[in-house]
Amino acid sequence: MTRTVTKAIFPVAGLGTRFLPATKSVPKEIMTLVDRPLVQYAIDEARAAGIKEFIFVTSRGKGALEDYFDTAPQLEEELRRKNKTDLLKVLNETAMESGQIAYIRQHRALGLGHAVWCARRLIGDEPFAVILPDDVIAAEKPCLQQMVEAYQETGGNMVAAMQVPWDMTPSYGILDVDQVNGKMVKIQDMVEKPAENPPSNLAVIGRYILTPKILSALDSVQIGAGGEYQLTDAIAQQINGEGVHGYVFDGKRFDCGTKSGFLQATVAFGLARDELHDDLDFFLRGLYVDSDMG
Ligand code: UTP
Repeated sequence: MTRTVTKAIFPVAGLGTRFLPATKSVPKEIMTLVDRPLVQYAIDEARAAGIKEFIFVTSRGKGALEDYFDTAPQLEEELRRKNKTDLLKVLNETAMESGQIAYIRQHRALGLGHAVWCARRLIGDEPFAVILPDDVIAAEKPCLQQMVEAYQETGGNMVAAMQVPWDMTPSYGILDVDQVNGKMVKIQDMVEKPAENPPSNLAVIGRYILTPKILSALDSVQIGAGGEYQLTDAIAQQINGEGVHGYVFDGKRFDCGTKSGFLQATVAFGLARDELHDDLDFFLRGLYVDSDMG
């Protein structure tokens, strides 16, 4: 019987160099899409998928992230006094029960595989999810929930997959696919950031459901692409064991680890908000008219 997935790791210990100088003092995961930090979208998605324990792998300078999930007694008192119940409700969405959230340090940014390995003692012997908050996915049914449902059928390991333009394949973990069965693909091999001859243009996106065997594989994984310990390499070792499936999810993914992706997400999420849509739409149309004239 496939076990329920109740724990998720959020690796947020990267340096976020593509957003310097902002990330000198602001963690990338706290940067906001409209009015919610990236990490809030990730937590909401995890909750919808049934996750009960949230494990953050953090690093030096990520204090704002821990504060974000803390209570804010002074602010709450002030809002109560002014009878701002709507804002209190908004704040409430960020609350975490004590013991539901854990932080563990990755002392050096040695790669995503290493970050996940840092959380091994908090995972123990059960399947777990990994969510990268800089991959934001807008979907009717949240991406991880789609995967958890599919995982009930397959068990093993599962990675979110999406077709990317061929010239972008060197930036992703790329799948070599064996069988395609609707949204589910059986993986024959996977290669992290192929410099040439990618086996397909099906890329791994930042959502995973993994078995604890991945953690022991990470014990001995060698330094891989980019001089980092790669999660992809540990997952690839399970292809002939417990198996690895790719799940081609429904939804639109924004790569908020890049400036362009972040801006696109900001526009898309802004337009999706009733109270902002008309203003923003008017502004964007005006920009096009101006640029046509220019
Ligand atoms: P990225 O490859 O986007 O790296 O990591 P980064 O450091 O965040 O950003 P850039 O490339 O310098 O701009 C993907 C995810 O893996 C986490 C990051 O925090 C991000 O969520 N990560 C990466 C770690 O937790 N530890 C690492 O050593 C590397």
